[in-house]
Parts: sequence; C-alpha cells; structure tokens
Amino acid sequence: MKTSITTTITANIVHQYHSGECQEKSNFYFIVLRKMAARRMSSLLSSSYAPALLRSLDRHSGRATCITRFSTAAALEEPITPPVKVEYTKLLINGEFVDAASGKTFPTLDPRTGQLIADVAEGDLEDVNRAVAAARKAFDEGPWPRMTAYERSRILLRFADLVEKHADEITALEVWDNGKPYEQAARDEIPLFIRLFRYYAGWADKIHGLTIQADGPHHVQTLHEPIGVAGQIIPWNFPLLMFSWKVGPALACGNTVVLKTAEQTPLSALYVSKLFHEAGLPPGVLNIVSGYGPSAGAALACHMEVDKLSFTGSTETGKIVLGLAAKSNLKSATLELGGKSPFIVCEDANVDEAVELAHAALFYNQGQCCCAGSRTYVHERVYDEFLEKAKTRALQRVVGDPFKKGVEQGPQVDSEQFDKILKYIRSGVENGATLETGGERFGSNGYYVQPTVFSNVQDNMLIAKDEIFGPVQSILKFKEIDEVIQRSNASQFGLAAGVFTQNLDTANRLTRALKAGTVWINCFDVFDAAIPFGGYKMSGHGREKGVYSLNAYLQVKAVVTRLKNPAWL
Ligand code: NAI
Ligand code: MG
Repeated sequence: MKTSITTTITANIVHQYHSGECQEKSNFYFIVLRKMAARRMSSLLSSSYAPALLRSLDRHSGRATCITRFSTAAALEEPITPPVKVEYTKLLINGEFVDAASGKTFPTLDPRTGQLIADVAEGDLEDVNRAVAAARKAFDEGPWPRMTAYERSRILLRFADLVEKHADEITALEVWDNGKPYEQAARDEIPLFIRLFRYYAGWADKIHGLTIQADGPHHVQTLHEPIGVAGQIIPWNFPLLMFSWKVGPALACGNTVVLKTAEQTPLSALYVSKLFHEAGLPPGVLNIVSGYGPSAGAALACHMEVDKLSFTGSTETGKIVLGLAAKSNLKSATLELGGKSPFIVCEDANVDEAVELAHAALFYNQGQCCCAGSRTYVHERVYDEFLEKAKTRALQRVVGDPFKKGVEQGPQVDSEQFDKILKYIRSGVENGATLETGGERFGSNGYYVQPTVFSNVQDNMLIAKDEIFGPVQSILKFKEIDEVIQRSNASQFGLAAGVFTQNLDTANRLTRALKAGTVWINCFDVFDAAIPFGGYKMSGHGREKGVYSLNAYLQVKAVVTRLKNPAWL
C-alpha cells in the first residue's frame, strides 16, 4: 500500500518536472510538494508516508544530494504579516523613550526575508553614560531599594500579569525579530518568562542574612544588601528569556539595571519594559540600551559606575567583557557562555524516545541554544537503528514561516549565523563525516537552513568541537561508559549534558562524572525558574535562576557589635 502510493505520487511529480512545470533544480521537491499540498494532499505528506515518498523521489529523480526535502512550501510563500505593530524603537532611559545622543539608528531585520522591520535608536558610549547615571541615581537616591520588599514583589507580580495580558503581541514581536516558531515561543519562552518573574517576586521578601555565634562577646549578623547598578548584556537566541534571567533576580534584590539587548533582536525588551513602568516600576530602575557590542556593550562592561556585570553570549566575547570588567573597577561578573553538550544514548535506552529527545535537544530554536545537545553519542549496539530513525525524524521536521501553524523550524537569526552554519557543514563534509540528510539552505529567501544530520563524526572534527549554533546534528559512536565519559569531558565547554538510560547505576555514574553545570537524565531542556543554570570551564562563571542567582546580585555584609554583660553567648 505504502509503496504503491509513493510510486504513484513520484511518477506524478517526475512527470510534472519533465513537463517543465517546475524545473528550478534547488527547489524541485519543494515546489512539487507545495503543489501537492495545494491539491489537498498535505495530510498524506505529514503522515508516515512522507519519508518513504521522499526516498522514492530521490531514487526517481536522480537528484538526491542538493534538493530541498523538508516540509511544506511555507518558506516560498509570501511571508505572513506579523499580527503586531512595532511601537517602541527608542532607548529607554530614566523611564522615558529617547533618541540616541548621536541621533543614529540601526536596522533590525526580519530573518524570514532579510528585509527591514524597523530602525532602532543606536545607543553608544554617551547613551550608556546617561543610562548608568539614571540607574545610579535610582539606586542611590530613588525609592526602589528603599521601598519594602513586599512592595517590590507586588510590582514584579503586576508586571508578570501585564505580560500575560499582552502575550500575543509580545510573542509576535519576538518571533518577527528572531525567527523562532510562534508556537514554540507561545508554549515555552513567554510562559517561562512570566513564571520567572513570579518566582523572583516570591523571593523579594524572603532575602535575609544570618545571626552567627561568635567566639567572644559579640553579636554577629550578616546583611544581604543589593549590590547597586547591574550592567547586563544579553544575546539574541532567547531575547525575552535572557531578559528575565537577568532582570528578575537583579530587581528582586533591590538593584537597578542597565540592559543592553542584542543588535539582532532589540524589539521585545523595549515592549515589555514599557509594561514594567505601567506596573509601577520607578523611573531609572530599568534602562534599556539597544546597540552594538563593541560600542554600547563594551561601554557598559567597563563603566566605573556599574557595580556588577552579567553577560550571556559567546565564549569569545565573554573573555573580552571579563577583561573590561577587570580593567575598569573590578566589578564582579557572571558569564553564561557557549557549549558543546554531549547527549549520551546508552545501549539500554528506548531508542524511539531517545531519537525524539536527541532531535529536540539539538534542533530546538533552530539549533541556537547554548546548551544544545550537539554531540549525540550513541552506543554501538543501538547506533544503526538510532541513526536511521534520527535521519527520518530530521526529514520530517517542518521548516517554514515561523508564524505558520505546525512549523517546527524557522530561519536562523541573521545572515552571519546562516553563513557560519553552512561553513561548518562544508567542513564536516570535507573532514569526512557522512552527510545523511540536509546540508543546504532551505528555500531561496531568508536565512533558512535544512535540518542536517551527520554520522561517522569523530571527536577531532570541527563540527564535534565548535559551537555551531544551528540545525546540525552530529552523531558519534561509543562502546564503553568510561570511554564516553572521557570523550564527553574532553571539551573546553561544560554547560550541560543529557543522559538516556534506564539503568540507575549508569545514570548515577554519569551524573557524577560529567563536568557540566546541568545533567538531564531521560529529559532535556528543562528550564524551571528554580533550577540553577550555568557552566563549568569555558562555559562560564556563576549560576543563573533559582536561589543561586540571588547570590550574584547581593553583597554580604558582616555586622559585629560588641555586647556588654550579655545574658548568654
Ligand atoms: P556575541 O557573544 O558576540 O553577542 C552576545 C552579546 O554580546 C550581544 O548583545 C552583543 O552585542 C554583545 N557583544 C558583542 N561584542 C561585545 C563586546 N566587545 N563588548 C561587550 N558586548 C559585546 O555573540 P554573536 O556574535 O551574536 O554570536 C556568535 C556566536 O556566539 C554564535 O554563533 C554562538 O555560537 C555564540 N552565542 C552563544 C550564546 C549563548 O547563549 N551562549 C548566545 C549567542 C551567541
Ligand atoms: Mg532582528
């Protein structure tokens, strides 16, 4: 049945191809599948027949290598008009939207097309100075650190409610600027954002120090104080989630903030910051500077009036900002940097579940995750089955306009990331890894990349060592647990690891041996607000989220008072 259906469809397609209806080589399957979808055959395409159909297409067309084989025709259609208007494009300083001092703007682009979304005020040294001055004043003289923690908590809760109320517009802005699927952002990022602010609202009035027994007649206590002005620099892969991880704990502890967004995705932070002021945040407590890294970002990292730096981004830039923090006023720095996380599939794993999870661990958010499971280590006994199924799953991945229902993968964030990913794919081929599927751009417009799977990957290949930050799965074979521990840890990174096994002893052994800030057992990408996140080695310093992040935004002051005639010691 399956064979006869696919053969008939293939014959139909090949006929159409040869009759000249759709001869653009690189879009051959794409266009044909689109026509089929238009003829109400889309349910067939999304069914389990799709892989067999595609294999059959490969065989008949003789064009197996360089054609797009993914999904429906979404990316070739006119981009869907985002259901939101861009209202806020200026810098937010001292509670007001203002132009950059220089009057300059920069474009933020739609990754689906490379076209302009909006021109945004471009912050620079002078704007950072203005923003830090506002934050400084709000901390040194303003009501924020002086109001009761309960009042601060209520403002955070009101903010979370407002974000929930405007979730549709906020999601649309995030998707438009970044390219991630709408359904993904609406299901994960926006709810996690809201939850995080409610979580830290809960902490605001539970921050307290200790009373400590002394060796002499002294009353000893610790005060946990806000540090002051926090300078925060965030990346573009999860613009809102990163905003929440930084701003939530900083404000809950009573600090004030200057946040520099990523130049690729400045829009959503401006929108939500407007809502923060509606929720009652005093002016100057949260300032947003859009702009580039070497200008606005560097100005913030080396500012003498910034008391604490928190950065998320590449390891390379992390080293630069840590140097700037040290050279200026030695402000403390939290760094959440790159990764090359192993995802280990043991011989006893349920292969179907492992395939699905490993797929999500890598391809989620177009592969643009610092903790992406980008080294898929599979035990030799299940390797062949795993590989076949992983390839089939990648072929089924629905790529297309992120605003379209059912789309799992949108475009990469910008042309720079797009080029970088294709370069890594070429290096994988040149180094002798087997390209199982994908490997090309998807469609002809925007920054879409085909879901790509490599097998026969060796640890010394670039694709197994560097953070690719794209939809490229590298599958490696292992034999012994000791061996996979050694190979997993032989990386400059140590952000996260995934372990897939039903054996408790194996899980426990790996958990303790892996040098990573997070180990997920039979799950991946679990990001509750209460779970700390951060890296070993060159994946960073410190932890975000949970109770651990509070430490990064608090000073501990020991207060020692001499006692006269104490009743007890
Ligand atoms: P990046 O680390 O350069 O950018 C992240 C943030 O740092 C942005 O806000 C940027 O404007 C700022 N920045 C850049 N240079 C700076 C400087 N000299 N001083 C202060 N701030 C600076 O990352 P980029 O260029 O966007 O992406 C390059 C690669 O980095 C990606 O392909 C990926 O491998 C990795 N990356 C990792 C992320 C993570 O979550 N760990 C997030 C984004 C990128
Ligand atoms: Mg953009």
